[in-house]
Amino acid sequence: MAEQSLSYRELLNKVKTNLAPSLAEDWPELPVERAEGVYLYTEDGREYMDFTSGIGVTNLGHNHPKVLNAAIEQMKKFSHSAVGITLHEPLLRLTEVLPTVMPEGMDMFFFGNSGSEAVDGSLKLARYVSGRPGIIAFTGSFHGRTYGAISVTSVKSKYRKHYEPALPGIYFADFANPYRCPIGDTPEKAVEWSLASIEKIFNHYIDPSEVAAILVEPVQGEGGYIFPPTEFLKELRRMCDEHGIFLIFDEVQSGFGRTGQMFAAQTYGVRPDIMAIAKGIANGFPMSAVVSSRDIMSRWLPGSHGTTFGGNPVACASALAVQEVFKEENVLENCRKMGSLFLDGLKKIKPSYPFIGDVRGKGLMVALEIIKTDGSKAPDGDKAMAILQKMLDHGLVGYMAGRTGQVIRLIPPLVVTEEQINKALSILAISLKEVK
Ligand SMILES: Cc1ncc(COP(=O)(O)O)c(C=O)c1O
Repeated sequence: MAEQSLSYRELLNKVKTNLAPSLAEDWPELPVERAEGVYLYTEDGREYMDFTSGIGVTNLGHNHPKVLNAAIEQMKKFSHSAVGITLHEPLLRLTEVLPTVMPEGMDMFFFGNSGSEAVDGSLKLARYVSGRPGIIAFTGSFHGRTYGAISVTSVKSKYRKHYEPALPGIYFADFANPYRCPIGDTPEKAVEWSLASIEKIFNHYIDPSEVAAILVEPVQGEGGYIFPPTEFLKELRRMCDEHGIFLIFDEVQSGFGRTGQMFAAQTYGVRPDIMAIAKGIANGFPMSAVVSSRDIMSRWLPGSHGTTFGGNPVACASALAVQEVFKEENVLENCRKMGSLFLDGLKKIKPSYPFIGDVRGKGLMVALEIIKTDGSKAPDGDKAMAILQKMLDHGLVGYMAGRTGQVIRLIPPLVVTEEQINKALSILAISLKEVK
């Protein structure tokens, strides 16, 4: 057949014809042939440092030998068996291992395939168990692309355009953004502003007794790598306790070591009731989970949620290997060390470039926010894109975030070395100079 004789290059020319444009107009669409560790190798023979980790997925680097081997060994045994019809050891073992690294009390799991699916599942669990309809989410949030997930997403109206009506019963409060707060750019003001917006919802739109859950990304990801003050998450916990509301953390992007602890809940020291986790769980094999306490989960009665692929044996075996590697290679410690090296380096670069409005990060969840230099602090997505393009030209792949793409997010594998961090810093310095 003709299509089987097409070369990779010829196929690349057909991307726009064969892939839905809703997907195929992203950036930079690198034609990757293979990947290993921190590096991507493209079809034209170039090497790139991958500081996206496939958007926070390949946290142990591409093709980590231990994860790869676990997947291969499992595939030799069998690669699918719908959970329920069968059971298997990797799944059951994973339910023993994960609670040892989850925030306290998170010890029962529903495995799925994607972050969006885990978010949907979390919302279903909260509504089902509480018997309440209301969900409070936050402005600037990103929770995925399924109908449930877009209904609680507000980073860009584009993600919901032409899909309305979304799920009913969702209310948006303001996220505590210490860099951009209408009553003053301080952590205290950001918390005050956000809490007032929740009070407003309670007073005017829905009584707290009818709210099932407050859903929050402890660090907003797609929204622009926004790190709220600890007090904000503590106050959400307090409000939820006061009103019998479930606190759901979407840790799809912030989880699995990204912020220097296994989960941002631990970095912040705040305990959720329900979590959505995915991305780094199996270092690249599609997998996610809704996680909660036995007390809450055991009230999600048989048949009320289900899956065909969730708990896939290859993904479970990979997830087990991921946990072994975290321990054996002291991955969290490396993340914290390399994270502070990276952040310090970026902070040193910042004063030379007035268009870098902010440099922020926890662990290896790191970002630069690019602004207009006219004193307005207005986001400058065009300049951020120009910098990203220069970085790419020099062999460093980063990715954009924020409503207007004004944030450059840097998400290296957590096993990145000091040498690689220094190389990335010098590429960034060159790229910034060229754009200036
Ligand atoms: C915080 C957060 N939640 C949910 C999702 C959706 O995950 P998925 O794309 O796997 O459906 C993402 C994806 O980037 C995310 O960052």
